Amino acid sequence: HPKAIILVGGPSRGTRFRPLSLNVPKPLFPVAGKPIISHHIAALSKIEDLKEILLIGFFEDSVFSQFLQDAAREYPNLHIRYLREYQSLGTAGGLYHFRDEILRGNPEQVFVLHADVACDFPLIQMKKAHEGHRGLCTILGTKVPREVANNFGCLVAKPDTNEVLHYVEKPESFISDLISCGVYLFDCAIFDEIRKSLENKKGNVETDIYGREVFQDGNKLRLEQDLLRPLAQARKLFVYETKSFWRQIKTAGSAVPVNGLYLEQLLSTNPEKLAKNTPGGPEIVGAVYIHPTAQIDPKAKLGPNVSIGPNVFVGKGVRIRDSIILDNVDIKQNACILHAIVGWNSKVGCWSRVEGTLPAAHNSTAVTKNGLKVQSVTILGKEVTVKDEIVIRNCIVLPHKDLKQSCENEIVM
Ligand code: GDD
Ligand code: GTP
Repeated sequence: HPKAIILVGGPSRGTRFRPLSLNVPKPLFPVAGKPIISHHIAALSKIEDLKEILLIGFFEDSVFSQFLQDAAREYPNLHIRYLREYQSLGTAGGLYHFRDEILRGNPEQVFVLHADVACDFPLIQMKKAHEGHRGLCTILGTKVPREVANNFGCLVAKPDTNEVLHYVEKPESFISDLISCGVYLFDCAIFDEIRKSLENKKGNVETDIYGREVFQDGNKLRLEQDLLRPLAQARKLFVYETKSFWRQIKTAGSAVPVNGLYLEQLLSTNPEKLAKNTPGGPEIVGAVYIHPTAQIDPKAKLGPNVSIGPNVFVGKGVRIRDSIILDNVDIKQNACILHAIVGWNSKVGCWSRVEGTLPAAHNSTAVTKNGLKVQSVTILGKEVTVKDEIVIRNCIVLPHKDLKQSCENEIVM
């Protein structure tokens, strides 16, 4: 039976996800009506015999307690726990540190999923592919445009066997447009390889007060360079290429296209979870998620790619598309919201516009370029107030701001 691990990272990272990460840890930010990592769990729940999911990261324990309670209710057959690293141990450090916990019950395989990716997680297909070769790891791969490939782990594979010949993490020059999606299936024998890799890093390891080996600060064990690269050299790494969607979630703005992709997916798999046009209801275009507690005026028009959170109020004549509206937001009549994220408890006045532009796919890391804010999704942090009849265009607004006049291309602090 397999187990699964989701690498959730910790609070010191995810700075590019500000200002939203000031109020919610990135793995719990809602897209298409549920936290980012709920999409991972939904995919894992479909794997036969998978009973245990471990979230590994360095957030406080309390951060995930509510989430874990909700997940336990939704998936009574899954045992989901959070294991906390005492400090950031790197992408493979937590795997090694919690090896006894992971290997308890003798699983044959472990899925490892990055929290900050969105895709349709073809885990069952990966498992099938894995069972058809002699490798220790199957890595999910996807093709991205040449110009952006170097921001990822790049793979050169033999087309007939999918054997990975080279793995290079964020190379300086172009190597391949086939990249790692941050989703892996490992044989448990991988723990021997981690051990070997540690021995190569000797001198960087010390013993803690419990007699366990730990890495000296600043010497993290990296899944990519310390494990995948030697695995490829040893011809034990295989790729499974997905042709379906895949995105990274780094900046706050990247949540908007990701929201759209997951909503589109729902439209084809579970359309009953999405809003429908009903007589006397608001006009719905394409894929729209509305929380059951939200109140939408029948004269509003929403969609495509819109998620509306709990207790949101949307007034008459409001137009929203390609946006995420978080809990308790109040949008007054005739306001227009395009390519934006509106933070918790914010208020948008009547006839105001909050708008951004959709970021280019896979190119969403920089917030500014040459000192100017790049054209992107507009983000209002928590409890922002936008007065009546003003325009907020291509801005990132920090929490608790009162916007009394229009602004454009600004980071409002
Ligand atoms: N538990 C834990 N501890 N998790 C961590 C740590 C750590 O010390 N450091 C990072 N993570 C988690 C992050 O939360 C994220 O989910 C994942 O590990 C990878 O994050 P990064 O280290 O920021 O790497 P990256 O996203 O720039 O690149 C990685 O992912 C790409 C796919 O999204 C690499 O694996 C690339 O090769 C890959 O293409
Ligand atoms: P994520 O969105 O979670 O990936 O965080 P980030 O990397 O986007 O945060 P930021 O852009 O602030 O990056 C901080 C820098 O610290 C990056 O260049 C990372 O390479 C580096 N870094 C690498 N590993 C770690 C880690 O474990 N903890 C922290 N705090 N920083 C790290």
